[in-house]
Amino acid sequence: MTDDILLIPGPIVISKNVQAALGTPSVSHTSAEFASTFSSALKNVRKVFKAGDSGQPVVLAGSGTLGWDIAASNLVQPGDKVLVLSTGFFSDSFAECLKVYGADVDKITAPLGDAVPLDAIRDALSKVSYNMITITHVDTSTAVLTELEPICKAVKELSPETLIVVDGVCSIGCEVFEFEKWGIDYALTASQKALGVPPGLSVSMLSDRAVKVAQERPFESSFFASLKRWLPIMVNYEQGKPAYFATPAVQLVNALDVSLREILDQGIDARVAKHKQTSDWIKAKLTKELGLKLVSVNDKVSAHGLTAAYTENPPKVISGVKQHGIVIAGGIHKQIKDKYIRIGHMGVSACDDSRQDMEKCFEAIKESL
Ligand SMILES: Cc1ncc(COP(=O)(O)O)c(C=O)c1O
Repeated sequence: MTDDILLIPGPIVISKNVQAALGTPSVSHTSAEFASTFSSALKNVRKVFKAGDSGQPVVLAGSGTLGWDIAASNLVQPGDKVLVLSTGFFSDSFAECLKVYGADVDKITAPLGDAVPLDAIRDALSKVSYNMITITHVDTSTAVLTELEPICKAVKELSPETLIVVDGVCSIGCEVFEFEKWGIDYALTASQKALGVPPGLSVSMLSDRAVKVAQERPFESSFFASLKRWLPIMVNYEQGKPAYFATPAVQLVNALDVSLREILDQGIDARVAKHKQTSDWIKAKLTKELGLKLVSVNDKVSAHGLTAAYTENPPKVISGVKQHGIVIAGGIHKQIKDKYIRIGHMGVSACDDSRQDMEKCFEAIKESL
């Protein structure tokens, strides 16, 4: 293993306590001890998502992608109309996933580096009766942040039956996020981003309405991702009662519990504010001091958990930065893949000033350009 500082947009550097939680001895997944840990983690997922007491959190062994499969195989049926708002590679992949399960997808693609204009969304919602809309809160390929609240309001006004589904993989835990207040029906994330846990868990939240849709779906389109099977298990675990459909990732759930406690101790609003401060700092240094141009076209659509910036020779910058013991990422948006770098600043790297991760990263980039 390496001592490099991992500043890609997930997986991220984890805290010492989270690391320790991964190394605990084996316990049975049906023990009272584990059920109590899982209960605490599920209750704290509600708090981090700001989801209130209704609906149901779901934590499964899997990656962020599993959240897409859950949405596509439980909340819509083949032939149902879905409106996908695309701000990059990950929004497009979500659309692909929906199509695999037979959804009839309409996509509105934003200009590169920008969010989809609200007028275009309102127009689409007025013309077609959609079963679901999907919004990628932060598309990690472009570092574009989509403002959720006005879109949720537009859906409630123009098409209240439409389920609102949010990919919060690169946002939940580092951006302002209000599951209950904004009336979101399903939000998904993954453990390895701003939740500060290694990869391996799909973490998501359903509204009461989404629970009902999943329970009343006339047939199952998947087995492992079937909410008909998982919902009773999650309800039981949240109440501290062991239950079984498939074996949970015991040590990762333990690590998630520790990380969520740390996040809530910090305070979710304080954490989001700190991510914004770190993001503003690195973006200002890169643009003003080094003259780099960001992929996101303005502040309003710039994510706070990562930065995507054009550079003349990304492989040279990435390998130069690596010489300083820091790992950053290259581009993945197909139009500009070889033209930009991505720097992750989530979790301890964004919040623990004593680590100086971002200062070190900036100096390394400066020297590598
Ligand atoms: C916005 C977004 N959605 C979905 C995913 C897929 O998550 P995973 O790679 O954990 O399957 C990613 C991965 O980076 C992502 O950034």
